[in-house]
Amino acid sequence: MLMIPWGRMMKMLTVCSRIAVPYDDSEMSKKALETAIMLAKQDDRIEIDVLTVINVPTTLAYYGAYNDDRIRESHLAAAKEMMNAVEEKLSALPNKTRSFVLEGSPSLTIVEFIKQNDSDLVVMGSRGLSGLQELFLGSVSHYVVQKSTCPVYIVK
Ligand SMILES: Nc1ncnc2c1ncn2[C@@H]1O[C@H](COP(=O)(O)OP(=O)(O)OP(=O)(O)O)[C@@H](O)[C@H]1O
Ligand SMILES: [Mg+2]
Repeated sequence: MLMIPWGRMMKMLTVCSRIAVPYDDSEMSKKALETAIMLAKQDDRIEIDVLTVINVPTTLAYYGAYNDDRIRESHLAAAKEMMNAVEEKLSALPNKTRSFVLEGSPSLTIVEFIKQNDSDLVVMGSRGLSGLQELFLGSVSHYVVQKSTCPVYIVK
């Protein structure tokens, strides 16, 4: 059992009683999820929301609506499978946890989610699935750090 001084625990609860973890299955996002789990283990009243955002490019008239739908369906199915694995991991915790598959621009959707769901802390990776490493932050983490209404914990 982990003993935490009362004052520190109260502070921790108000700072991060509901943690949002934007997740894209990248190594960094896996580390972010582990970090959120580690935080949640400190108090079983801490809640974890894991969200992944799929963004299927549409309006490519050339491919047609039929193919757009098929691409969207396959992205959705893959995202749901990914979240099943996440949920299985989270089910080991006594804490309340939720998972979401959302559609839209990842950056905008994550920031909107944080507002709508009263997240107290965001835990996310510095980089994601893109292989480019010149910049410290990817475009999604860069945007969320700037626009988030709550503190953002960047895992690297
Ligand atoms: N589609 C997404 N849904 C949910 N979370 C995401 C998504 N994309 C990225 N993230 C979160 O943002 C973090 C940083 O990823 P980001 O996409 O910013 O970097 P990148 O993929 O390396 O660069 P870029 O996407 O700008 O080319 C990830 O570790 C993850 O926590
Ligand atoms: Mg990315």
